[in-house]
Parts: sequence; C-alpha cells; structure tokens
Amino acid sequence: MSYPERFTIPTREVLRERSFAGKIALVTGGSTGIGAAVVRRLAEEGASVAFTYFASRDAAWELERELFDAGQIAVAMRVDARSVEETRACIRELVDGFGRIDMLVNNAGLACAGAIENYDLDALEAMVAVNVKAPFLAIREALPHMPAGGRIINVGSVSSDYMPYPGQAAYTMTKSAITGLTRGLARELAGRGITINTVQPGRVETGLLRVLGDAYETVGRSTPMGRFGTATEVASVIEFLCSDAAAYVTGAHIRVDGGVSV
Ligand SMILES: NC(=O)c1ccc[n+]([C@@H]2O[C@H](COP(=O)([O-])OP(=O)(O)OC[C@H]3O[C@@H](n4cnc5c(N)ncnc54)[C@H](OP(=O)(O)O)[C@@H]3O)[C@@H](O)[C@H]2O)c1
Repeated sequence: MSYPERFTIPTREVLRERSFAGKIALVTGGSTGIGAAVVRRLAEEGASVAFTYFASRDAAWELERELFDAGQIAVAMRVDARSVEETRACIRELVDGFGRIDMLVNNAGLACAGAIENYDLDALEAMVAVNVKAPFLAIREALPHMPAGGRIINVGSVSSDYMPYPGQAAYTMTKSAITGLTRGLARELAGRGITINTVQPGRVETGLLRVLGDAYETVGRSTPMGRFGTATEVASVIEFLCSDAAAYVTGAHIRVDGGVSV
C-alpha cells in the first residue's frame, strides 16, 4: 500500500533540530579519545568546532576530513596547550574567523604514574603544564570573546574523589586543581551568564590508560559495570553541559564513572 506524498514520514534528519546550530566551540586535545568524541558530538549538533592537537596530526586531520565529508564544520589546529603564545594565536584565529567562542572544552590532558620518591620531574612539569596551566590559559584568553550563555567544561578525573591505586598522586593533584578552578570561576562568571563545570571521567577506554600497563584488563573488569566507559559516554555529558538545558548548572563536578567511586 502506498501513501499520498504529503503523508510521507519525514526522515529523522529532517525532524531533528540541531541544538548547537550557529554556535562556535573550541575543544582542546580533540585528536583522540574523549576529545575526538566531543568534537563529533558538537559538530553533529551543528556547532562550528575548532579543535587542537599536538602529537596526533594524522588522527586530527582524519577527524577533520571525516566531519567535512559529513557536511559538518570542524577545523584542526596544531597548538601546544602549554604555550601562551600558541593558545593566544589559536583563539585569535578562531575569533577572526567566527567572531566569538560560545563553548570551550578543556579536554587536553596527560597522565603519568610513579612513586613519589623517584617521580620523573619532567613528567610532573609536563602534567602541571597541560592539565592545570593550559585550561587556565585557554579560559583567560577565550573569556573576552565569550558572550552570555557561554559554556566552559573542564575535564577533570574521578581520581580527585577516589584513589584506588598508588602512583597516581601527581596526576590526581593536577585534576584536583581543575575542580578548584571550576569552583572558583563559577561564582566569578555566573553574573555574566557563563557556566563552568567539571566532568570527571572514571576509567574510559582511550590511549591515556596506557599508563596502567599490565593492570589494564583487570582495571576495566573491576568497575561495578564490569567494563570501561567509552569516550562517547563522556562526550554525552559534556554535550548536555554545553546545551541550553544546562543553563542553571554551574560549579558542578559531574562524575561519569560507571559507579566506580560509589
Ligand atoms: N581515559 C580515562 O580513563 C580518563 C579518566 C579520567 C580523566 N581523563 C581525562 O580525559 C581527558 C582526555 O583524555 P583521553 O582519555 O581522551 O586520552 P587521550 O586519547 O590520550 O587524549 C589526550 C588528548 O590531549 C591532547 N594533548 C596532550 N598534550 C597536549 C598538548 N601539549 N597540547 C595539546 N594537546 C595535548 C592529545 O593530543 P595529541 O595526541 O595530538 O598530542 C589528545 O588529544 C584528559 O584530560 C584526561 O586526563 C581520562
């Protein structure tokens, strides 16, 4: 049986309202893992997304190509998150091109492990620079171009609240600094209509967990859900915090950890 044309059911694509149409987003460390999943989600929802990478050029270019082919807007930029000059230049380029920044997702991160007595101090400095200094810099540079309704999401870690393994103290120190930054700025930015929140992933299946070495499989199975989380599951929460629906959520630290910290 065939229906008259006017009764044709529209495709999902036609029905779907893209929630970030016209919005401009910057995602740091968007080449792989959670960052790449965030880039995909925001771009699929209609945002124009700039994302940074440092070492993973091929992955970044591939993602840019994938989204371009899908008719979405995503631009990869090589920016060392530790550098003030490069961060400033990236934001200038973005603002020159798009006029403003509506969403900033501070996702770039490093994880190193080790006992404190012989902790590699170069690794410590790199982690502090990428995990703590870089989000501070990006927020500082982006804020003058962020209108009311702006969204800042910092990617922390559930390790700020839950610490099952030795050797994670330095990483945890950097991720706890992020919750402090979020809490401190929430009050400062609330009057401008800008929200800032931390998303705290648990154990998510990305390259970052290489730090676990031989313990990798056991760690995944030992969560209450018996598995690692996926980058997309974290990206979904970040997407929500970027949305209009989350307008009254600020200064929050939201765990996406499959119950590992309960
Ligand atoms: N996976 C987990 O279980 C887990 C748990 C808690 C928190 N997190 C947090 O989630 C965030 C994303 O990590 P992930 O798990 O998705 O790991 P990942 O795949 O290793 O991603 C890390 C990202 O950070 C970028 N990055 C590192 N150093 C950089 C630098 N100097 N300049 C610019 N970008 C830099 C990397 O870019 P390049 O590769 O291009 O250098 C990459 O895109 C991190 O903040 C991490 O601490 C992850």
